[in-house]
Amino acid sequence: MTIFSENPALRNQWYAAASEHELKQGPIGRTILNQNIVIYRDAEDQVIAAPDRCPHRQAPLSAGSVEKGVLTCIYHGWSFGAGGRCVAIPSAAPNSPIPRNGHLSCINTSVRYGLVWICLGDDPAELPAITQEDDASFRRINNPIEKWRASATRMTDNFLDIAHFPWVHTGTFGNNQNTLVEHIELEVLEGGFYGYKYDVVAENPDSANLTSGQAGNTVSRAMTTGFHLPFTVRSTIAYHTGLEHIILLLTTPIDDVNSYFTFVVWRNDDFSVSAEDVIAFDRTIGQEDKTMLERVPGVLPLTPRTLACTQSDKASTAWRHQFGRLLKSSV
Ligand code: FES
Ligand SMILES: [Fe+2]
Repeated sequence: MTIFSENPALRNQWYAAASEHELKQGPIGRTILNQNIVIYRDAEDQVIAAPDRCPHRQAPLSAGSVEKGVLTCIYHGWSFGAGGRCVAIPSAAPNSPIPRNGHLSCINTSVRYGLVWICLGDDPAELPAITQEDDASFRRINNPIEKWRASATRMTDNFLDIAHFPWVHTGTFGNNQNTLVEHIELEVLEGGFYGYKYDVVAENPDSANLTSGQAGNTVSRAMTTGFHLPFTVRSTIAYHTGLEHIILLLTTPIDDVNSYFTFVVWRNDDFSVSAEDVIAFDRTIGQEDKTMLERVPGVLPLTPRTLACTQSDKASTAWRHQFGRLLKSSV
C-alpha cells in the first residue's frame, strides 16, 4: 500500500525531473509517483515526456537513443519524433500505415529555471514563481539531480526546519550556533510561499567565505523559509552587504520513500566567483541533510498528534496540514 504517492491530487502538481542540459545526452528515464517516464527533446526543440514503455512491445524507451530529435527504441528500432509521433517502423514495408496506438501518449512538460518539469495529470497547478529569474542583477546556478533514499515528506519537513542546524550542520555553518529557536510567526511570503522570517548568526568558516561574500568567524543573515505545495521549499538569505542568496529546494517523489533532489540558487553578486565555487558550500550542506534523512525510514506521519512538536516545528506542522488537505481534495 502506498501512503501518498498514488494520490490523484499529486498528479496535477509539477515536479522537477531533469536539468535542461541533461537532454543533450539522449533520452532520460525517471520515475515520478511510481510511474516510469522517458524524456527527450524533439527536432522542433520541444521537450517530450511519455510513459517509458514502447507502444510496440513495451521496452524501456529511455534505453534507446536520440538523434536529430528522433527517439529510437533499442528493441526493434521503432522511432518517435515531434510530438511523440511514431515516424518509422523498420520491419514494415515502406508507406505501411502506422498503427493508431503506435504513437507516444505525451505527458505535460514545462521548461523553467533550467529544469524540465513534469505534470502527470490533465489539470496542472501553478509552478512556484521566483521573481529573481527575470531580474538581470541576479544569476541562476543549477545543480545536478540526485537520488536520495528518503521520503519527500521527510525532506520537506527537514528543509522547513531550522532547529537541526546546530546538530546536523556541524561541518558547515551550524557549529556553535545557538540551539534556541526564537519565536516564529507564519505568514505569506513573496511569491506566495508560506513560512517565516528569522535572523540567524551562522558560522562563516573559510570554506563559506565565497558564498557569504565576506570573511569573519560568523555572519549575520536575515532569512525567510517557506513552502509551496507539494514539496518545494525556498530559503532566502540577505546579508548586510546587500548580497542576496535565494535557494529553491526541489523534491520529486519517486515513490513514498525515495526521491530526487536538486536545488537552484539565484544570487545578486558581482559574478566574479565561479558558480561552482559559490555553491560548493551549499552542496556540502545538502549532503549533511541527505546523510541524516537517509537514516530516518518511512514516510513522515501526517496524522495530527503522532509526532511530538514544539514551536520551532510550526512551519512543518502547517505544511503537514496543508499537504493533508491537498491529499484529501482528490476524494
Ligand atoms: S519494443 Fe520498441 S520497437 Fe519493439
Ligand atoms: Fe539542513
